[in-house]
Amino acid sequence: MVNIDAEIPIFKGGQMATAHYKFVHNVDYHSIVAASEKVAWTVGEIFRDRHFDVTKNIVPDSWVCTQHLAFLNGQEQRTLNHLRAFSYVHLFGNFEEFIPIHLTALIQQDWHADRAHLRALLRFGEEEMKHQQLFLRAETDLEASCGYSCGRYFDKDRLMAFTRAMLAYPPLPRALVLLALEWGSQRHYVDSVQDKVGDGSDPLYVDILKYHWIEENQHTKSGVLEVAALAQFLATEEITSAFDHIMGIGGLVDATFVGQVEQELATLQYVTGRRLTESEATVLREALCKSMRAIWADVAFTHPDFQRVAVELSKEGAAKIGIV
Ligand SMILES: [Fe+2]
Ligand SMILES: [Fe+2]
Repeated sequence: MVNIDAEIPIFKGGQMATAHYKFVHNVDYHSIVAASEKVAWTVGEIFRDRHFDVTKNIVPDSWVCTQHLAFLNGQEQRTLNHLRAFSYVHLFGNFEEFIPIHLTALIQQDWHADRAHLRALLRFGEEEMKHQQLFLRAETDLEASCGYSCGRYFDKDRLMAFTRAMLAYPPLPRALVLLALEWGSQRHYVDSVQDKVGDGSDPLYVDILKYHWIEENQHTKSGVLEVAALAQFLATEEITSAFDHIMGIGGLVDATFVGQVEQELATLQYVTGRRLTESEATVLREALCKSMRAIWADVAFTHPDFQRVAVELSKEGAAKIGIV
């Protein structure tokens, strides 16, 4: 059984003195709640009666990075593009499973705090539940548009194991990884719009990324406030060790990338009838794993706002994850 609140500091008096971190300057829960109310959307409003156009690429080539592999024909490259679009929503929806529980653990230690703070965290959790619904809808609509089923790394057992493993880490590294993931979602949207090479920006898919980021934007603000609140009670060494935990979480997440790439390889061969040789499969697996890590881990942990938070918390810790 995971004890999710064992290491959460108790915020006595309901007020958290977080202002000594520069990264929380001009961030407050009242503004976060007001923005959250203003931009709120429903899954139905995003999809309306639209579907994905599978006669074209759905995500940018840079999300897949297999164009240099001459042994793949045009149809196979396009199928890989559609499979990567699927993998993204599949992984994101499942990665987000731990977030409401993580936030609930924070709330339980601060239930008597100011109303705006609690509302911001409760809205944050509810919005993540809605995002899971959004990504699940995208999974099923992509399959319907493509006319075939896509391989899924996560089943119920793997989701429970992954979520438990995430929640077994202390709150600060969990909050930091979450923050990086959320800033990464900003880049996913920006990249999908700006990378217009070829036809890799399906309008419906772009809207999914856009509206997800619109709400994640508030989550990054709540995220920095929570990170500051958690860090202020910790000794320097404990903050530094949070970055060791981030690497541990990185290992957990990386295993899901590798697992989902295996699903992409299997689905590609099933759908196209192509039988890859062992050497072709090895080369393709490596390329797909590399692009999977690039679109998730690289864009998140190299985001300048995340790097600023990491360095201000602990230069030594940040260096452990390659931020100097
Ligand atoms: Fe989300
Ligand atoms: Fe979020």
